[in-house]
Amino acid sequence: MAVTGPVTEVMRAGGSHIPDLLDRVERLLSEVAASHGALLAEHAGATIAAGGKRLRPLLVFLAADTEEGDGLVRAAAAVELVHSATLVHDDVLDAATLRRGVPTVVAAAGRGAATATGDLLFARAFAELAANGRADEIQVLSEASSALAEGELQQRADAWNAEVSLERYLRRCELKTARLFEAACRLGALEGGGAPEELGAFGRRIGLAFQLLDDVLDVSGPAERTGKQRGTDLLDGTVTLPFILARERDASLAAFDPRSIDSAAVAEDVCDRIAATGALDEARARALEIVNEAKAGLPDGLSTRQRHALELVATGVVARYA
Ligand code: IPE
Ligand code: IPE
Ligand code: MG
Ligand code: MG
Repeated sequence: MAVTGPVTEVMRAGGSHIPDLLDRVERLLSEVAASHGALLAEHAGATIAAGGKRLRPLLVFLAADTEEGDGLVRAAAAVELVHSATLVHDDVLDAATLRRGVPTVVAAAGRGAATATGDLLFARAFAELAANGRADEIQVLSEASSALAEGELQQRADAWNAEVSLERYLRRCELKTARLFEAACRLGALEGGGAPEELGAFGRRIGLAFQLLDDVLDVSGPAERTGKQRGTDLLDGTVTLPFILARERDASLAAFDPRSIDSAAVAEDVCDRIAATGALDEARARALEIVNEAKAGLPDGLSTRQRHALELVATGVVARYA
């Protein structure tokens, strides 16, 4: 999926060095994918070549607010590699068919190939970051990776549970998504000499809002805009915020057994019923609130450019379709 819309705007606001840094990340990612055996070259290469918003590398650069540094580029690539590894594994766990507008690795090549590809991408992420020679950076990425794994496990544990609590849902989103956004901002701050705690908190908040919006997009679609199949969450038993809000508003959904969803068509139908309750607007509003908290919590002492770019990226998180 091409980088368009709000992300392009953020790139402009962040300074003319940002496109150059993102190009360097792209080159590094392609090199990594190409140089570690045929399996990685084929499946990881395809995953990386299929695009993606590259939002996490962008956050690394905006949090750093510095114009150069091989270390910065390696850190950004490492975060994107962890993200890509997680997506490849996530699609196995979620039995997802479409990713970034193309078939998932698990759909195209099976569970074994997808597991190995994800493992390799994880390993290469840490190899890249290790070249920076900073134990603090390794720790940041490793903590985010462990949180991701915990979040994915929690999601499986809660699968098919139509009564999962809002608190448990939010905790899952923190673990599986917000922590990697936090790590991206922390790594940028560490490389750029900024405030890791405050910028990390910003990343964590917008990461949480990002997942809330992703869960809205899973229900709203359309696949042509999201690059993912509509209703994938429900089809796989994953109960998310739109359902949690909709079950309060529609008694038939409150009594609903997610196991009765046995085809993409039925899942889409349930998506329509959720949308009809107004739950998507409420979920969007909650994401917007979190984004506003993120902006309000940005530390003093940022340059005007940095503050503006970070605010724009935060706005983009809740004004997106992909
Ligand atoms: C997808 O992330 C996984 C979630 C955390 C929801 P992105 O929407 O950032 O995926 P790409 O990299 O742009 O494909
Ligand atoms: C994000 O959740 C999981 C990861 C952190 C990879 P989803 O399962 O909703 O992500 P998508 O919708 O498959 O991209
Ligand atoms: Mg998924
Ligand atoms: Mg999703």
